[in-house]
Amino acid sequence: MMAGPLRVLGIETSCDETAASVVLRDASGRGEILSNVVLSQVEEHAAFGGVVPEIAARAHVEALDGILAAALSDAGVKLDEVDAVAATAGPGLVGGLIVGLMTAKAVAAAAGKPLVAINHLEGHALTGRLTDGLTFPYLLLLVSGGHTQIVRVRGVGDYERWATTIDDALGEAFDKTAKLIGLPYPGGPNLEAAARHGDPARFAFPRPLKGDPRPDFSFSGLKTAVRQAATAIAPLSGQDVADIAASFQAAVAESLEDRVWRAMQRFREAHPDVAEPAIVVAGGVAANATIRAMLDRLAAKTGFHLVAPPLKLCTDNAAMIAWAAIERISAGLENDDAMTLAPRSRWPLDAHSTAIYGGGRRGAKA
Ligand code: KG4
Ligand code: ZN
Repeated sequence: MMAGPLRVLGIETSCDETAASVVLRDASGRGEILSNVVLSQVEEHAAFGGVVPEIAARAHVEALDGILAAALSDAGVKLDEVDAVAATAGPGLVGGLIVGLMTAKAVAAAAGKPLVAINHLEGHALTGRLTDGLTFPYLLLLVSGGHTQIVRVRGVGDYERWATTIDDALGEAFDKTAKLIGLPYPGGPNLEAAARHGDPARFAFPRPLKGDPRPDFSFSGLKTAVRQAATAIAPLSGQDVADIAASFQAAVAESLEDRVWRAMQRFREAHPDVAEPAIVVAGGVAANATIRAMLDRLAAKTGFHLVAPPLKLCTDNAAMIAWAAIERISAGLENDDAMTLAPRSRWPLDAHSTAIYGGGRRGAKA
């Protein structure tokens, strides 16, 4: 299984980041990021208050060639020195996926290299092994604009989704709540900034599903509660906005804490032999300091090891795609049909997870 060094060029275009990266796995199995180029489209979408799929696809087309060239030159690697080309094939916005996967097919064919098609969620799920050399099994908490999930990661290709959102993704809830109280896109970081001088106890917003035996998440009720509170005191002063933002964050953190705690108990029961289990966080919302602090406290309390990769590797990037391909190749799990594979806008990580609540994957990356 473990052979000589392996270099993979990865491409990520599933949402609003155009990204390419070269990752090396050395002979001992350790990963090293040789380059990691990410171009965010935030400015292209800001005027519209959210990601516009058509604009995203066009921006990927315009940027990808240059980003690929930059990733190779930053890494000091020529195309014929890479061992494989990897691209995100789903889930995500189909226009962007087509651009990334078609480009990867063309590059792989021209250079005579194998192509590995990667599930974006698998990229997030395996990042903790690239950054921290984690061993299986462990828990993943993914909180992004399109996904809110807790996954038990048992091995390469062996994922079990333990929790997902019944309605909005957490990042989506941040973005919508921010919009509701007049904060600009992207909502998450702006809401966090506003909350810094707000009173988290002024509004008693609900703590969705806290204490509920179901393992999942829900945020749409919280959003409605915010709307009602904001309407009742409109027009909002700057202090009102700050207080609502802080109270919203407090509610989110408490709900999340209860949900993650539940998954930790389940993990302990399933793996009594793992002495200090790890939980990895991924997704843009992992940048939130209130949520990070809550997770730190919770991990200390439960004896879990909290792994929070650097933000650049928590949010969407291509290093995680290249690394997932390296893991698949090392495990002998690469797909033979990658050259004919079509992108999949929906692609659950856990093939056995059904859409229990009729969806719960409605974000941009559904
Ligand atoms: O992982 P990401 O960059 O892209 C995907 O959605 O895949 O996550 C973006 C999401 C957005 O909803 C954004 O508002 C949220 O992460 N976000 C934050 C913060 N920074 C980004 N939410 C709360 N607090 C933050 N500091
Ligand atoms: Zn993502």
